[in-house]
Amino acid sequence: MTDQPHKSVVFDRAATFYDQTRGFPPGIDQQAADLMARLGGLTHSSVVAEIGVGTGRLALPLARHSGPYLGFDLSADMMSVLRQKHAVFGAPDIRLARADVTQLPLRSNVLDAAVLVHILHLVSDPERAASELRRTVKPAGVAIVGWNRSYEHGLEAISDAWEAATGEQWRRWRKGEDNRDTSAVVLEQNGWTETASGVLEFTTTLTPRAKLERYRGRVFSSMWRMDDAAWQAGVAAVEAVVAAQYTDLDQPFEVSHAFHVVVLRP
Ligand SMILES: C[S@@+](CC[C@H](N)C(=O)[O-])C[C@H]1O[C@@H](n2cnc3c(N)ncnc32)[C@H](O)[C@@H]1O
Repeated sequence: MTDQPHKSVVFDRAATFYDQTRGFPPGIDQQAADLMARLGGLTHSSVVAEIGVGTGRLALPLARHSGPYLGFDLSADMMSVLRQKHAVFGAPDIRLARADVTQLPLRSNVLDAAVLVHILHLVSDPERAASELRRTVKPAGVAIVGWNRSYEHGLEAISDAWEAATGEQWRRWRKGEDNRDTSAVVLEQNGWTETASGVLEFTTTLTPRAKLERYRGRVFSSMWRMDDAAWQAGVAAVEAVVAAQYTDLDQPFEVSHAFHVVVLRP
């Protein structure tokens, strides 16, 4: 499947596996939310909206720091997972609505903070999203942008084989530059200014088998957007290198993660 560049990337197909493939380890989700809340100056009276709220990976821990927490997403299926988790774990005042970031169902100047994590690289018209955020965030409010970067030690041969086989198709749909997420870049290009930043580092493990299954299962949105032929060529290259170089497919390799947070003012 190939999405057209002018359409936003809706995550319905990822709802059932998003938390398994993108979830934070236990406790790290709360640390990530604590960092975002501290840098963004959230209080229990802050009105916050998360754009592209997804399954609530950050909404659930972050809403503990704020007043009303509004979640918007184009994917009803992703928000349905959030609703189920909310019912199980409970959390203060989270209100969800299906809405596009380029047309938010909000009056002007109502938000103390907009939260954006891995979102604007997926949006049809990022410039319009930036102006919609400018309209809805109070002049003294903030955008809190988060993104994750990871390095898989010892599994480089697999990533290299994938990138060599998929080439331009892969690079085209990656989320932003290596060190800066698209959401932060777009806001800065539209006049927002960084006022604070921080990084949360943590580690997980990943086996060659699990990494291979991510490619086969086409779990990342960049893989949905590339041509089927490019994806198939990538999977074949990965299968070949795994067979040639990894004898124990269940050996855990260390993954270093950095969750970056940047706060910007309009
Ligand atoms: C990569 S997920 C991130 C979810 C969440 N922020 C997190 O970090 O776990 C991106 C989400 O943005 C949603 N999305 C994509 N384009 C959108 C748009 N134009 N307006 C609102 N949501 C959108 C997708 O459906 C998906 O749930």
